[in-house]
Amino acid sequence: MRVGLLTGGGDCPGLNAVIRAVVHRTIKAYGGSVIGFRHGWRGLLQSEVEELDLKKVSGILPRGGTILGTSRTNPYKEPEGEARIRLELKGRGVDALIVVGGEDTLGVAAKLHEAGVALVGVPKTIDNDVNGTDYTFGFDTALSIATEAIDRLHTTAESHDRVMVVEVMGRHAGWIALEAGVAGGADMILIPEYPVSVDEVCGVVRRRHDRGKNFSIIVVAEGARLSDDGAPVQVQSERKDAFGHVRLGGIGATLAERIEERTGYESRYSVLGHIQRGGTPTAFDRFLASRFGVAAVDLANRGGFGRMVALRGASIVDAPLREALGSLKTVNEESYNLARVFFS
Ligand code: F6P
Repeated sequence: MRVGLLTGGGDCPGLNAVIRAVVHRTIKAYGGSVIGFRHGWRGLLQSEVEELDLKKVSGILPRGGTILGTSRTNPYKEPEGEARIRLELKGRGVDALIVVGGEDTLGVAAKLHEAGVALVGVPKTIDNDVNGTDYTFGFDTALSIATEAIDRLHTTAESHDRVMVVEVMGRHAGWIALEAGVAGGADMILIPEYPVSVDEVCGVVRRRHDRGKNFSIIVVAEGARLSDDGAPVQVQSERKDAFGHVRLGGIGATLAERIEERTGYESRYSVLGHIQRGGTPTAFDRFLASRFGVAAVDLANRGGFGRMVALRGASIVDAPLREALGSLKTVNEESYNLARVFFS
């Protein structure tokens, strides 16, 4: 079996563990070979390739990012994109393409599969918002980094009697904010799914002061908006990528400014940004990514095209790619209510 492999969309810790697992499984279990396409769909369009063998993937397990590189290239926005991909796959003798990506990359994969391309998907994103799987790898690492940051900000907030606002990633889903916020003991968590007003946040800060707690930690997802001013989600840049996404950011600064204005308590903000996506993956992410990689090769070998691997409970299963598409796995009421227990 000749396997093609690509990693698309935003990078996330654990991608190299998938690459390694795909290579080990293909070569050792099926006597096959693996060709990597560089920078996501761009590699297929521009014929940027790299043969992957056991030596190439040796030592990459603890490395963040992806040795194949990634991009947000959308082949359906490129001239003759679909036809060029088909031609490239045929020319390289690829029997099955393994596509590692989030909603956008898997959306392209689903379209290509409908057009007859033999492929399987592996879901990834630090946001953990891909439907059809309980967890995506990368999320646990981002969560650990965000939680550690909250712990660190706690000590400086306490020393200075300040309100500290921490802005974390999460474009449409607030999983990182919610879970890191609960794990780090945040006093309030703002996520895209449940907008709150500045007054509600200030109420929390004031109540803490009344109880003799002169500092507060507020965690906010970059995609959250405030309910009272009708303001849209804050963006750093209106320029859209090939999938129509603008660059988010700024809610942390706005919130810190408004809290200080309204309560008089000194406030600061910190934006974690891409720090959450970089560096070595946690053991959980390495293990999950390794399981996904092995399962994807097995799925391809049995001809399960148009499907993706997924984690359900403790088991790795496979599901139609379309389960990951159309809507995102956003924070549900049960999880939000759990977080609210700890709001001050
Ligand atoms: O989708 C994952 C994600 O990390 C989002 O949380 C974030 O909004 C986005 O990617 C950032 O993308 P980029 O790296 O292209 O700026």
